[in-house]
Amino acid sequence: MNATEQLELKVKPNAGVQLRDGFTGGLGVVLATLGSAVGLGNIWKFPYLTGANGGAAFLIVYLLSTLLVGLPVMISEHMLGREARSEAVHAFLKLSPNKKIPWWLVGASGVLAAFMIMAFYTEVAGWVFAYIFKALGGGIFTTDPAVTEAAFVNLISNPWLSLGIQWVVLAAIGLIILQGVAKGIEKTAKRVMPVLFGLLLIVVVRSLTLDGAAAGLNFLFMPDFSKLTGAAILTAMGLAFFKLSIGMGTMITYGSYYGSEQNIPVNAARVMLGDLLVSLLAGLAIFPAVFAYGVEPDAGPSLLFITIPTVFASMPFGHFFMVVFFLLTSLAAVGAMLSLVEVPVAFLTEKFTWSRKTATLVVVFGLAVTGSLAALSNSVLADVKLLGFTFFDLFDYFSQNVLLPVGGLFIALFVGWVFGWKKVEQALTNRGALKNTRLVRLFFLVTRFVTPVLVLLVLLNGFGVFGK
Ligand code: PHE
Repeated sequence: MNATEQLELKVKPNAGVQLRDGFTGGLGVVLATLGSAVGLGNIWKFPYLTGANGGAAFLIVYLLSTLLVGLPVMISEHMLGREARSEAVHAFLKLSPNKKIPWWLVGASGVLAAFMIMAFYTEVAGWVFAYIFKALGGGIFTTDPAVTEAAFVNLISNPWLSLGIQWVVLAAIGLIILQGVAKGIEKTAKRVMPVLFGLLLIVVVRSLTLDGAAAGLNFLFMPDFSKLTGAAILTAMGLAFFKLSIGMGTMITYGSYYGSEQNIPVNAARVMLGDLLVSLLAGLAIFPAVFAYGVEPDAGPSLLFITIPTVFASMPFGHFFMVVFFLLTSLAAVGAMLSLVEVPVAFLTEKFTWSRKTATLVVVFGLAVTGSLAALSNSVLADVKLLGFTFFDLFDYFSQNVLLPVGGLFIALFVGWVFGWKKVEQALTNRGALKNTRLVRLFFLVTRFVTPVLVLLVLLNGFGVFGK
């Protein structure tokens, strides 16, 4: 700090802090971060992947990945963001000691990932949103899977409807992002998360009290390791990345909004546990009910839209629970999308010193363009395939299985081998204020040695080294 800066600080003690919007602290920090982690990943992906990969054994591998890969990378990201007080690209530019090595590319790949994920995510969110009204109107209240399938196909193969619901979702998210970090993201998370939790509990109680619910519990909790293929093991790890919003700079950006008194490892552990709880509750809302009515949970991505409505239609008071279910799923998607949009918005405001308004407008329009590729993947663009994937599937596959794990690998390597122990200790003990050195040391060792090796396995799977 030079003399003038010191003088400025004396005059305005909080000058540096007030310039940047940020989370206000306490519960708001946990809820906003949890709001990013919780999303369609918990309620759409987690059940369909667990359902398609044999249940409990998949869940166990998912738990291990969350602990050994997810938590260390999340702590790393929060730390880097707070140390740099920058979004991901600038965080690496500021923190990397050797400017010749382009660490900032990790941040840049995160901006790309945000666009790819948002492209299909807004579309699925749009389906869920539309399903609230379909459920209310009773159109999907039938036990006949042929009818629910026709309803779903009708929706996704209608190009204008697909684009329209995506634009509605984008506009709503854009409006919240415009309000800023504290007044937009944090405030929304504080309102939405408790409601989401309450609604989810209602559906869980319904599902667990059905006759025959036990078979679903067996599926979710009694592991049968014979069903666990090598590919499934690595899919579970990819899901952990997606679930915790890590490997792409979201958590770096959010970390940059943390106060300097925030206990990062404790906060990250809370977020991880909260996210896990929501996934388990989603499993408890779905599997007992699915098994109670003798339906198979292995439909894949359409589980929520074709299978689940028939299950609700079979149960007493099912109409009510179906509406509640799609409502809570829509709510879950909000916080995740806010964090996905925040990544490019924060990048543009920092890079070009644009106003938040300009950056948000540019990002939302950009997302409407790239998003249309995914939105039209089941209609006009159904036959356009790259590497055998439609745009929708390509964005989903490539972000989850390539961009996020590659990002996570480099983040762990950066923290473990470049940033180094001394700085990590300083940052995570809050410069000695917290007496958690042993815990921080454990974190450092895992991040330096264990996480990169495990992540490398995820990557090899992404590239098909272990076969399909
Ligand atoms: N974690 C979110 C979910 O589970 C998705 C997400 C991924 C959000 C990456 C931000 C970044 O739905």
